[in-house]
Amino acid sequence: MEDRPLDLMIPGPVPVSPDVLEAMGQPVRQHYGPEWQPFYEQFIARLRRIFETTGSVYPIPASGSGGLEAMLGTLIGADGVVGVITNGFFGNRLLDIARAHTPHVEVLQIPYERPADPDETRAWLRARRLRVLAVVHSDTSTGILNPIADLAAAARAEGAALAVDAVSSLAGAPVLTDGWGLAAVATASQKCLECPPGVAPVAVTSLGWEIIDGQPAPSRGWYLNLRNWRRYEREWPHHPYPVTIPSNNIVALNRALERILDEGLEARFKRHRQAAELLRGGLERLGFTLFADRRWASPTVTVAYPPDGINAAALMERLRVRHRIAVAGGLDHLAGRVIRIGHLGNQATTERIRRLLGALEACLREGRAAPGSPSLGATRAGAPRPAAPGRPRRPRRPARRT
Ligand SMILES: Cc1ncc(COP(=O)(O)O)c(C=O)c1O
Repeated sequence: MEDRPLDLMIPGPVPVSPDVLEAMGQPVRQHYGPEWQPFYEQFIARLRRIFETTGSVYPIPASGSGGLEAMLGTLIGADGVVGVITNGFFGNRLLDIARAHTPHVEVLQIPYERPADPDETRAWLRARRLRVLAVVHSDTSTGILNPIADLAAAARAEGAALAVDAVSSLAGAPVLTDGWGLAAVATASQKCLECPPGVAPVAVTSLGWEIIDGQPAPSRGWYLNLRNWRRYEREWPHHPYPVTIPSNNIVALNRALERILDEGLEARFKRHRQAAELLRGGLERLGFTLFADRRWASPTVTVAYPPDGINAAALMERLRVRHRIAVAGGLDHLAGRVIRIGHLGNQATTERIRRLLGALEACLREGRAAPGSPSLGATRAGAPRPAAPGRPRRPRRPARRT
């Protein structure tokens, strides 16, 4: 590995502030008992403020997918019925998780190029009578933000409630868990929460519990079964979780939450919107084509086709080697065709975005001036961008990660 660290502009994990890393490196603490308990209660209170809920919050020791599986598996119960909206790689992840828990999964498949539509969702639900509908807020594969507030209202009108993947949105875009009437929301520590990976906080509202308790059969899982987490919370107040929680990760996350709340949620949302706009304007000036229409572009992730004749993989390589900046490649049918840039948490600053744009400009200039070593030219004729919105395809095998 090169000595000079990479500046991570991938859509998670994000660079972590030194004080959060320092908190992570403190001596290991006893993860229960009279000294830990008041600290843990404050930590959960902070998470509640960020989820904007008075409901239950559990810091599941896992990556984001672990939190999603805990949320969805518990809501579905054993062999229950569930609906999933998908318009991206991570919508398909929700679908895979749902199918691991029940054969009774209804799918509302939307093209990758647009968000889910509340009226369409309502009509679709009317024909089905579902209680739980899972959807991704900001799909990190497309940079499209689904309109959760309106989808939740549409679902409510048909007797359903949303289970939301807010992995790349919570603390970067508004998520009103109670205010929007959601059943549950799951996220991950390594995105807008500005922490190393390892903790997947999950929130469940009273509506979510009503659905869970009304399921004919509980989920067969144990570790990722939120009923179990609730049982320990109720019955073991000195140790309100069923497992040894990763205390160093929790201490670090607590420090990150303090920083987030000190900044203020509204100020953060504005910072993310401004960083997104700065990046998008800059990319367009450099000749990139944005994947997501600005009307529904996520404030935390941008996906873009490189300028004509520029190969996405070669561009990413040059950015990494010459400028020590990492961006991510495309997922599913967008692999090799787009780059994905994170402006989550600490990435969403004018300074970082300007540095990235400057480096991209230099790469394009150098690449055009000296085609051949290494070339930035397209390797496949006509590959860079589609003439018309393409049909989404399911991945045949797990594609490149974020
Ligand atoms: C929207 C979304 N959902 C789910 C995941 C999966 O999270 P993890 O890789 O932490 O399991 C990611 C990861 O990038 C994501 O961006």
